[in-house]
Amino acid sequence: MKMKIPFQKFLCRTSIVLGILLSVADAGNPQPRTTVLFTKEWHFHFGDVADGQNPSLNDSQWRSLDLPHDWSIEGHLPSEASGQDVPEFHIVKGDWKFNEGDNLLWKNPDVNDSSWQTVKLPSTWEDHSNYTPDNVFGWYRRELTVPAELQGKDIYINVGKIDDADETFFNGVKVGGMGSFPPHYTSAWDNFRFYKVPHEIIHYGGRNSIAVRVFDGIMGGGIYSDGQKVIEGPFESTSPAGSGGGYLNGGVGWYRKEFTLNENFKNKRVFIEFDGVYMNSDVWINGVHLGNRPYGYSSFQYELTQHLKFGGKKNVLAVRVDVQQPCSRWYSGAGIYRNVRLTITDPVHIAHWGTYVTIPHISDNEATIRIETKIRNQSASAHQVTLESIILDVSGHEIARSRSNQKIDHDSVNRFTQVVKIPKPKLWSLENPTLYHVKSKVSVNGRLADTGETPFGVRTFEFTTERGFFLNGKHVAINGVCLHHDLGYLGAAVNKRAIERQLEIMKTMGCNAIRTSHNPPAPELLDLCDRMGFLVMDEAFDEWERSKTMYGYGRFFDEWSERDLTDMILRDRNHPAIILWSIGNEIPEQDNANAFEMSKRLVDICHREDPTRLVTSACNTPEAAISSGFTKPLDVFGINYSISFYQTYKGKAKLFGSETASAVSTRGEYNLVKEGDTLKVIKDLNNQCTSYDINAPNWGNIAESSLKAIKEAPWVAGEFVWTGFDYFGEPTPFSWPSMSSYFGIVDLCGFPKDRYYLYQSQWTNKPMVHILPHWNWKGYEGQEIPVWCYSNCESVELFLNGKSLGEKKFSDTKDLHLIWNVPYSSGSVKAIAKSNGKIICTDEIQTAGDPAKILLIPDRTEIGADGNDLSYVKVEIVDKEGRVCPNADNLVKFKIEGTGVIAGVGNGNPMSHEYFKTSERKAFHGLALVIIKSQDKTGEIHLTATSEYVKESNVVIHTKN
Ligand code: GAL
Repeated sequence: MKMKIPFQKFLCRTSIVLGILLSVADAGNPQPRTTVLFTKEWHFHFGDVADGQNPSLNDSQWRSLDLPHDWSIEGHLPSEASGQDVPEFHIVKGDWKFNEGDNLLWKNPDVNDSSWQTVKLPSTWEDHSNYTPDNVFGWYRRELTVPAELQGKDIYINVGKIDDADETFFNGVKVGGMGSFPPHYTSAWDNFRFYKVPHEIIHYGGRNSIAVRVFDGIMGGGIYSDGQKVIEGPFESTSPAGSGGGYLNGGVGWYRKEFTLNENFKNKRVFIEFDGVYMNSDVWINGVHLGNRPYGYSSFQYELTQHLKFGGKKNVLAVRVDVQQPCSRWYSGAGIYRNVRLTITDPVHIAHWGTYVTIPHISDNEATIRIETKIRNQSASAHQVTLESIILDVSGHEIARSRSNQKIDHDSVNRFTQVVKIPKPKLWSLENPTLYHVKSKVSVNGRLADTGETPFGVRTFEFTTERGFFLNGKHVAINGVCLHHDLGYLGAAVNKRAIERQLEIMKTMGCNAIRTSHNPPAPELLDLCDRMGFLVMDEAFDEWERSKTMYGYGRFFDEWSERDLTDMILRDRNHPAIILWSIGNEIPEQDNANAFEMSKRLVDICHREDPTRLVTSACNTPEAAISSGFTKPLDVFGINYSISFYQTYKGKAKLFGSETASAVSTRGEYNLVKEGDTLKVIKDLNNQCTSYDINAPNWGNIAESSLKAIKEAPWVAGEFVWTGFDYFGEPTPFSWPSMSSYFGIVDLCGFPKDRYYLYQSQWTNKPMVHILPHWNWKGYEGQEIPVWCYSNCESVELFLNGKSLGEKKFSDTKDLHLIWNVPYSSGSVKAIAKSNGKIICTDEIQTAGDPAKILLIPDRTEIGADGNDLSYVKVEIVDKEGRVCPNADNLVKFKIEGTGVIAGVGNGNPMSHEYFKTSERKAFHGLALVIIKSQDKTGEIHLTATSEYVKESNVVIHTKN
């Protein structure tokens, strides 16, 4: 099989709340701007709805839910959307006609193909016809009889998997196609072709012609696999999302929300703000179309005012979301998966994303703060407007203030620029991420019209050609990870605590930087990075004009790229965490003739909107990117993988490893197999990858190689490892039944794989030592098992059942790990790590007995009673001594009572097809996870876990205000 090629209801309840807020504001409340989360009591319908925007449509049968919501993890099938089962024809198996070459006339039903070769499919064409060259076309034809009784019905044809790109015609009419043909070839070798044929072109009771035009880029070509549909849990093997999208379906979904506003709002301006809707959303208020936003990762706002009804009359907000797949190389999610807010302002107010804080000068004694504020006057007349900007320190004390006046015409936006100085600034750093705030007060004729608060940090940073990266003048190695936006078993629906936990896990590993691969992140991530001390590379795109997937961003790029990029920067530019804007990842146009112009246009937008950050792009074909001029406009050159280029470009550019490693492993799997008298570590076995760090795809490197390459090239600013967390989709090096990635340093539950400790040994100073594998190898007695140790100490001495197996020093090896080949006997393996001859820390693994009980270990036993907060409860299957049983796969059932619900369950197995939102889960290598979400009530949550033959376990989590 071919490997991936790296190119590639505020209802009444709300109105009461708003009403109270407003009347308080009218009574002189100093907060005239009201922003409320608009996420409760929406109605959702999976599938398209004619006239879904119509306010009088009866949606009472729709499902009630709260946002954020991701329908893709729920496992909807297309039949559910259409309300009918569309008949499917599996057409791959059997005799086809095949012809080498390319002629578009061959799509026509009346082509005489009698001289074509008869071939049996599925099979690649090098097998059935010895047609072997790369970059060639071939055509397949066959006939299909559609029974007369289906008259008037659409059908699906299942054309299996095609290596690499196809166009498929039914009676001469194109019904589908995946991948793209030269000159901008992209492969879709691993996607099932599942095409809908409209009834208008079908001859019922008669013969129909099917013609498939195929292009092969490299290695084999043709219709090589039969697309058998398997549906397990939320996953569907023939999902158009493909392996990239994690076999989770998109489709069309509708959301509606009714709300009322009292009369007091009449003279206000009302806005709705979406942090992100995936994807291609259309929004209506009371049947009036407000706009369309194709890019699923962009934040956007619409004004509702002019279309609203006040005085308690019903308003209906409707959102149509269209996820046409394949549209993403990774799991995207589907729906209103990020937060939504309703904002009510005075007609004179701070414009959307209208405050921009920069720090043009920083010294030990003083920092100059420049505050640029856009104020909008939407009232009927001009106003004399006063803006006061007050700088607050960490404890909320005022430390500086500036006041300015300007006359703003009606229907105008004015820019205020204020400069203040703050004494002895406390710098924002990774260790002490100090945040100041600008409090903005807008007044009109002495009346407070608007307020705002903008956090900012005072820091300098610099990339150098010779010595990498400096923060506040101090050298910092960027020890970063790439993160996709999904949150494991919660899917793509945003949850702040889930993100915070991810960052905590990364921080404990020594990670200090996040690359938001490959799209603008949820704003919550950036807030957390500011607060927790992470550097951020904020990335806009994974593709420009040349799409990597059939319904990718490429189809919107020309019209939307400037807007999407600008909006990302306007939204994010006050975050001190951000150091780099990235205009794209592995952009296929790296080698375009007009690569320079394309890249320059986007870099110029970044510089225009924010001259204080540097701009980069993650290049996977560095040479082509340089010779085409693609890299010329960039401030910093991001290199994906090609570690030898660190040497090649030494001194010539500011460099960093924008993407490194791509090592693959499965938590708890070692793939140790007996072969005769010896034991072998098999990289990939039964769709699982070994946890010894020896496995990476051909374009990537094992974790250790990337770490070493960076260490040896101090002029390179550091790296962003692919990836911090496992994510749904891209199950390289496999496909179905695998559905999630193996790249993560931690698994989908957030449980560390062994590689985690390799990074910790290189990225932290807090003493640590870690041993792998586990020590349950019954039947392997006497066989030599490779025992690896990671540590940041000088040496490690290893003991088997109390007997020393010798001490090894890191200075004696070029490796970043130590190895002992230990003849297996059950018991204990202990590592004693030493520095300067002193024992610093130890790790021990013991042979576990049979599973005897369950342990429930919550990360937090007290959570907020806010309906959002989470407790991640680790489930361990342990023996009677409390040792985790590394091979246990017990089915654990959960019972929950009290003020919480189960938000998700998981176990980190990339092959598990179990539902996420359910009350049971099989353990995987002794562990499982249950994620508990609070309700908005104080009280206690009682969680019980039971499993056959083992002792149950209980835990209590408190929900508090
Ligand atoms: C890179 C790409 C990532 C991911 C990774 C897997 O080339 O930028 O998005 O696909 O490969 O190794």
